[in-house]
Amino acid sequence: MNTNVSVTKSNNRKDNRIILSDKENLAWASKYFNSDELKYLKKVAKDDISFAFIPRAEAYTFVQFLKKGKTVSDTHEEARVAGNEMLSEIAHYKITSITVVNHSKKKLVLPYVEGMILGNYQFLKYFNDRSEKTNSLKSIKVWEKSVDRKSLNELLSVLDATMIARNLVNEPQSYLSAPTFSKEIKSLGKKYGFKVTVFDKKKIESLKMGGILSVNMGSITPPRFNILEWKPKGATNKRPIVLVGKGIVYDTGGLSLKPTANSMDFMKCDMAGAAAVVGAMVAIADAKLPLHIICLVPSTDNRPGLNAYAPGDVITMYDGTTVEVMNTDAEGRLVLADALHYAKRYKPELVLDFATLTGSAAAAAGQEGVCYMGTAEQKTKQKMENSGYAVYERLIEFPLWKEYGEQLKSNIADIKNLGGPTSGMITAGKFLEHFTDYPWLHFDVAGAAYLKSSDAYRPKEGTGVGVRLLFDFFKQY
Ligand code: BES
Ligand code: ZN
Ligand code: ZN
Repeated sequence: MNTNVSVTKSNNRKDNRIILSDKENLAWASKYFNSDELKYLKKVAKDDISFAFIPRAEAYTFVQFLKKGKTVSDTHEEARVAGNEMLSEIAHYKITSITVVNHSKKKLVLPYVEGMILGNYQFLKYFNDRSEKTNSLKSIKVWEKSVDRKSLNELLSVLDATMIARNLVNEPQSYLSAPTFSKEIKSLGKKYGFKVTVFDKKKIESLKMGGILSVNMGSITPPRFNILEWKPKGATNKRPIVLVGKGIVYDTGGLSLKPTANSMDFMKCDMAGAAAVVGAMVAIADAKLPLHIICLVPSTDNRPGLNAYAPGDVITMYDGTTVEVMNTDAEGRLVLADALHYAKRYKPELVLDFATLTGSAAAAAGQEGVCYMGTAEQKTKQKMENSGYAVYERLIEFPLWKEYGEQLKSNIADIKNLGGPTSGMITAGKFLEHFTDYPWLHFDVAGAAYLKSSDAYRPKEGTGVGVRLLFDFFKQY
């Protein structure tokens, strides 16, 4: 993580400080400021300005006024956004260390710090002058009795995991091939204590995982099938929960080469679903959540190389289903289908898959939310949606009505991998549903996984979407 965070017992005038406050209640301030400063502070509060800046030779103090939103979710998001906004002041004054002191009745220290940390993320690996480009802020201290260590540590676990997911998405495929991705996953397993098994091409061939192998045919780099497992003693679930992530390290579209201008430019993000579930495993293991969780990541690039699978081909999937390939750019559902079939062997109580699956999901929700659908109980869906609001990765449910399945009928095979001209996100979901026999939810993160320009604390490029959502869901599970 780029920023170090700790709890402190000292609240020292020699430290740079951000004091969180409510406009209505400035009684605390007389202990800190002289009468001129107090006058200025009251004026700022009255003028509806979001923060006051009180510089002294010994240290800087910012007083941050926090807004109340319409809902708890909105109020927390206001705090995250405010925390991120303060970063530009911190950068301007080249502040390296700052203490967040709470004098607000709204308990928003954690979301405020969360916004600061998420916004302070940088991916500078490929810059020669990265040390000049590095943000000044290195350390945040928190001074607030009501913040308990456990919640802070859980927050730090999930933020660390979010940065890992962002890094994985930001890595171009020139570095992050399917085999390299597996190496990264293995080293995360070692560091955070979950088990990692990697199937190579031979093993994938022996299992006849036809979806993964077909997508891989146009590539000169072999595919991988990664299995991550977190099984702590005293896990509270009898049957495992399985996470599945689309791990297409680069999507050219294959022979159905991507038709939209420039749409290939950011297709290194096509493993963002995999990054989300791997990131979630990191957070879960780091926080030692008492749940048995397995994570499956089918991974390859999708290219139009010499032997590439072609539109019109009929392929046989891992579960035996024959699929007429009508578009090689609809590759995500093929690799996911094999993983969803593999998941059956665990008799899972719940399966959650994350994928940058369709442009249609990005068109529907834009970058503001995640489209989801599935067969899990209403109760599970409600809990997921609550987590979506809690972490502000909001969910929109789409239906899996049987009529959509009609679009997948093929003249020569069991199904085809392409639906009609409308509802492409749902027909992709219907395709996946065919390979499930357990409670399941599918999250199409195509819109929120990757941003072309930054949005508050979400940086340009990989956002790490899904990690905070999943972790919140499992914390409450
Ligand atoms: N990786 C893409 C989906 C995508 C689009 C991800 C935008 C991130 C941003 C996926 O493999 C794809 O190409 N989907 C096609 C499917 C179509 C051919 C049925 C799409 O959505 O256009
Ligand atoms: Zn594609
Ligand atoms: Zn894709």
